[in-house]
Amino acid sequence: MTERGPELPDPAPPAPAPTGVQHLRRLFDTVAPEYDNVGVEFFQPIALGLLAELAPGPGERVADLGCGTGAFLLPAARSVGPSGSIVGLDISAAMLERARSAAAAEGLDHIALVPGDAADPDLPAAAFEVLAASAVLFFLADPSSALARWRALLVPGGRIGVSTFGPQDEVWQSVDEVFTPYLPADMLDARTSGRRGPFASDAGMEQLVGDAGFDQVRTATREVPVRFRDAEHWQAFTMTTGQRAMWGFVPEAERAAVRDEARRRLADAAHPEGGYVVHQQVRYTLAARPA
Ligand SMILES: C[S@@+](CC[C@H](N)C(=O)[O-])C[C@H]1O[C@@H](n2cnc3c(N)ncnc32)[C@H](O)[C@@H]1O
Repeated sequence: MTERGPELPDPAPPAPAPTGVQHLRRLFDTVAPEYDNVGVEFFQPIALGLLAELAPGPGERVADLGCGTGAFLLPAARSVGPSGSIVGLDISAAMLERARSAAAAEGLDHIALVPGDAADPDLPAAAFEVLAASAVLFFLADPSSALARWRALLVPGGRIGVSTFGPQDEVWQSVDEVFTPYLPADMLDARTSGRRGPFASDAGMEQLVGDAGFDQVRTATREVPVRFRDAEHWQAFTMTTGQRAMWGFVPEAERAAVRDEARRRLADAAHPEGGYVVHQQVRYTLAARPA
């Protein structure tokens, strides 16, 4: 019997180029109100891992590219303190607006928020000790040239850290695979899934970053447990991330069946204490601009 779930909100309609900047701006403008806001610990722990690796200290100047609603930005602003400064750049005005109100609510007035394209940020050269991009690099059409531009923003010896996704556990993978038959080829190659290209391995990422002119390249990893109260909670979460675009490719008539199959597979992640727990491996690639 088909289990009834909550109504599926109308997902962002697919655009001809799912990785294009306009599409991403529209996608993140759409998800912004709920992004990282439905009680699922995901982007925060990922960003806090990056913060721990980069360890920005008091007085340092930090750039956070693709800052979103502030998962890295806000704790980094606390770390550098009022003698430091932090610039958050994002393509989505709605994501920036959420970061702006969160910063204002905390009185963090050493944060500057600027709209812009992380592929070629309009920021001053050699002006930052630390540069971060958490869950962003894989969205850029040419990560290699972006990294080379990012290098120029750092002072000599300045530190860079990017977080990208390693493998998900088997259950989460199998849940996501329900969408596979509907996705266009360029989304199947999505580097977010980390299954191909430089984003598929520590060595691939280290080479990508090293080839962009950084040294002291290293990798740190962390496993983030992701908890959903129930299947509805999982579904609500998928509508608040880049995954929302996946729903957009499923024909409306088939969405309920896809949802039911995904929920059936998610049942394998049932936790003895209730709800579901799946796991996401996160890869941090760290390096420095040669001194
Ligand atoms: C998965 S979110 C990560 C946000 C934030 N760093 C975090 O950890 O929560 C990806 C962010 O990258 C932004 N983004 C995607 N492509 C971008 C681009 N070309 N330039 C600037 N921001 C971009 C999106 O608008 C979104 O805010």
